[in-house]
Amino acid sequence: MKNTYSAMAVVSPGRLELVERAIPTPASQQVLIRVEACGVCHSDGGTIEAGFPGLELPRVPGHEVVGRIEAVGTDVTRWSIGQRVGVGFIGGYDGSCPSCLRGDFVNCENPVISGVTSDGGYAELMLAESHGIVSVPEDLTATDAAPLLCAGLTTFNALRNSGARGGDLVAILGVGGLGHLGIQFARKMGFETVAIGRGQDKESLAKDLGAHHYINSDAGSPAEALQSLGGATVILATAPSGKSIGKLVPGLAPRGKMIVVAVPGEPIPIQGYDLVFGTRSIEGMLTGKIIDGADTLKFSVLQDVRPMVETFPLKDAATAYAKMMRGDVRFRAVLIANQTE
Ligand SMILES: NC(=O)c1ccc[n+]([C@@H]2O[C@H](COP(=O)([O-])OP(=O)(O)OC[C@H]3O[C@@H](n4cnc5c(N)ncnc54)[C@H](OP(=O)(O)O)[C@@H]3O)[C@@H](O)[C@H]2O)c1
Ligand SMILES: [Zn+2]
Repeated sequence: MKNTYSAMAVVSPGRLELVERAIPTPASQQVLIRVEACGVCHSDGGTIEAGFPGLELPRVPGHEVVGRIEAVGTDVTRWSIGQRVGVGFIGGYDGSCPSCLRGDFVNCENPVISGVTSDGGYAELMLAESHGIVSVPEDLTATDAAPLLCAGLTTFNALRNSGARGGDLVAILGVGGLGHLGIQFARKMGFETVAIGRGQDKESLAKDLGAHHYINSDAGSPAEALQSLGGATVILATAPSGKSIGKLVPGLAPRGKMIVVAVPGEPIPIQGYDLVFGTRSIEGMLTGKIIDGADTLKFSVLQDVRPMVETFPLKDAATAYAKMMRGDVRFRAVLIANQTE
């Protein structure tokens, strides 16, 4: 067995390179994971284009990771070699900051963020914090489970905590990695589900995924189209476009809520009138805790939610990333590091 492993590292802004590294020994609270699959998330752009504040290069991106434990640190008691596990965006927490003490690891002041503060899953091997991993059920293949750990977790958790009730009109803006899972979760949670995409070509796929209605945002006002359906109780915004999010606020029903999970590079323009008259609200939401990841996997098995994926060998990470950024992937690119299935 070789004593090195391959990884795709960001060596300078915009440049992913195949590197060979010495196999590390996990620290006392860490595990070493042999990666099987890692999803390519739009947020990986923050690492690849070096936009995340404080990011240090070289850095291996990737926060939708599934694999098997190959080695455990000396103080790890909960996990053992051979177990099938996953890692999401928040790969651990500091444990000492005020948020952590309140159990709010998402708002930790010093979180371990996979692929940002520590090397992620664009690799054959990855070190992870033992308290930041989740068991992956055998019912899910690695390629199906990986996207559920960020794209899935983020949309599942946002929708289940949104306050919408069965039968309410819930719209998903953007039919991409997050959006195509959001549509499935919304449908399986019992909401009247609307998919909003650019152009007509995604309509039949969105309906296959469970959308009751499809709105082409290029054809007329999508807010008016939502109002003609009765107004949305919740809009989950996954399209990284400030303008398209702002334009949709008048599509909310009175007291409706816009939940923004996309991170547009530009401001989100909102008319005060639309917000105030109708008592609407807008909130941002960051992924979820690892326990929410476990719930996402469980719900997906229970309700038969699966991502639509295109797989790429690890060495083609740059091609997969570019295709995702062009909006050409249907709907999640997944890198295969060690072929096992
Ligand atoms: N909050 C969190 O914790 C969290 C977690 C993961 C990701 N994110 C963020 O969520 C966003 C989506 O990530 P992703 O991985 O799903 O990206 P993705 O796969 O690239 O999907 C984004 C989708 O948005 C669509 N879109 C872009 N502009 C649009 C517009 N004006 N109107 C309608 N649709 C539009 C694109 O469709 P077309 O180009 O095909 O029209 C594309 O399908 C990113 O900003 C990412 O950073 C946040
Ligand atoms: Zn992500």
